[in-house]
Amino acid sequence: MFIELDCPASVRKQLGKLFAEALKQTVPTEPDIVPLIDACIAKDGVKHADYQCNNAMSLFAKIKGKQEEFKSPRSLGEGIMKNLPPSEMIESCSVAGPGFVNIVLSKKWIAQRLQKMLTDGIDSWAPRLPIKRVLVDFSSPNIAKEMHVGHLRSTIIGDTLSRMLEFCQPECLIRRNHIGDWGTQFGMLIQYLFETYPNPDDVNESDIGDLQAFYKASKSKFDKDDDFKLNAQQSVVKLQGGDPKYRKAWEQICNISRTEFKKVYQRLGIRLEEMPESFYNELIPPTLEKLDQLGLIEDSDGARVIFVDGVDIPLIVVKRDGGYNYFSTDLAALWYRLNIEKVDWNIYVTDFGQSQHFDMLFKAFKRAGWLPEDKNEYPICTHIGFGLVLGVDGKRLRSSCGDTIRLVDLLNEAKEQSKTALLKRVLCHLGNAKEWSKEEIEKASEAIGYGAVKYADLKNNKTTNYTFSFEQMLNDKGNTAVYLMYAHARICSIIRKSGKDIEELKKTGTMVLDHENERTLALHLLQFTEVFVEACSNLLPNVLCEYLYNLAEIFTKKFYSNCQVVGSPEETSRLLLCEATLVVMRHCFYLLGIEPVDKL
Ligand code: ARG
Repeated sequence: MFIELDCPASVRKQLGKLFAEALKQTVPTEPDIVPLIDACIAKDGVKHADYQCNNAMSLFAKIKGKQEEFKSPRSLGEGIMKNLPPSEMIESCSVAGPGFVNIVLSKKWIAQRLQKMLTDGIDSWAPRLPIKRVLVDFSSPNIAKEMHVGHLRSTIIGDTLSRMLEFCQPECLIRRNHIGDWGTQFGMLIQYLFETYPNPDDVNESDIGDLQAFYKASKSKFDKDDDFKLNAQQSVVKLQGGDPKYRKAWEQICNISRTEFKKVYQRLGIRLEEMPESFYNELIPPTLEKLDQLGLIEDSDGARVIFVDGVDIPLIVVKRDGGYNYFSTDLAALWYRLNIEKVDWNIYVTDFGQSQHFDMLFKAFKRAGWLPEDKNEYPICTHIGFGLVLGVDGKRLRSSCGDTIRLVDLLNEAKEQSKTALLKRVLCHLGNAKEWSKEEIEKASEAIGYGAVKYADLKNNKTTNYTFSFEQMLNDKGNTAVYLMYAHARICSIIRKSGKDIEELKKTGTMVLDHENERTLALHLLQFTEVFVEACSNLLPNVLCEYLYNLAEIFTKKFYSNCQVVGSPEETSRLLLCEATLVVMRHCFYLLGIEPVDKL
């Protein structure tokens, strides 16, 4: 766990308060016992209670012989149960096995909580983040080099983490795009640009639209032609020295890339605030100067380096040719974030390949005394690594000709495939082609296609490699975005068919949970808060995906197939339950950056 979130709306938290009271009463000599409350999990489809308090066993070992009235953990469990303060949230309690206190919640209370959420909005369920200013560094592609699937993963995961943290309403959340616009590749690109367009005014940015091809061509020339190579190296020096002609060429190249990146962000609904590597260029010398004064920088083979604990290789902060590198930039950037932007928590989202880079960066800062040692209450710097994206052949995902896949192509494909499936369904199965306008088809194909790509990524634990398969992610059965969207569209359709004004029902109607499956669904909805707390405090979007999938399953398989809504005597109550499901479901989609469709 990275941080502890305070969530007053969570059932666990509220039960925790009651049990803390009971524990204090039962064992006055141990006033600081933390209540251990867990939600019960069904075994073979049967659940004996909703929650369980598990303190009796370990507490008994502590007080053995000190409190005569408790002869066994079970009798201690009974004591705790008797001392529970009266509360409208609990229907009944019992002691099971060696001393578990089983808790059944009151269905009236569950219904009231849900109705309150419907009136106050889901934000009333938000936990509080104990940190004021958070920065998530994600996506961060490199100019001219292709934005590849690794950047897609960083973009998807980083966006979701930002949304999750935003829900906790920190004072400020910065979504930072640390674009790589300052590498040595620019010498080569600029040189190639000058040779292709001897007159810089002739450069039309859209002519070099395909930067990947441009990059490839210049790289091949760089590798073959020694004169070109030399000129390219001199170009870097001129660019870094601020020569206007070279700056202009650099800007032109950067703009082409930016236009490409923007297209991807727009399609995926990603907000990012760019602060490119070049921004820190002037900050590097003073940052290194400070580190030098602290005695951290050493000479090694003509380069300037820093050694950190537990790593044999040093980190190079000034190269032998006097140039700076990726590392020098990150040193300056982190210094800036901590001291100028006053960020309390810096989160970096990249693939695992960069774990060592960040480990060394944080260690260098610790050595300088700029970051406290690990034992502080909250993390200040966190690297969130993720695994590779594999193709169905089990190897790194590549296009058929072996190149890195262009994200734009990948998203086009996702949209096209989801469109084909949608058209087939609309025309063949539903026979309701008239109900769908052309725009609606386009919009829904995009929402489903992009949603499928995001969900397929997020539902895995981010540490594992995941296999990219359109066939799997666009399947309408199983744990996919398409399946979830069906569930969402179904609820929308129930509400539409009822013809009722939900806003009115919220004010006048009452939710009653007499049917077992109504209760199961309602309890799962209420448990959103504690699942969210688990997902957010561990920065694990997959926990949220699992919750959403279970919600769709419970709705479809338990509630929908057993409880008639429209036209039933319980219609009002059930419509309210449907609405509460929609609100929670949509919020999960929102947190995952997925736009659900209203009909399917
Ligand atoms: N541009 C880098 C890459 O593509 C990722 C940057 C991550 N952020 C950072 N501050 N280093 O690998």
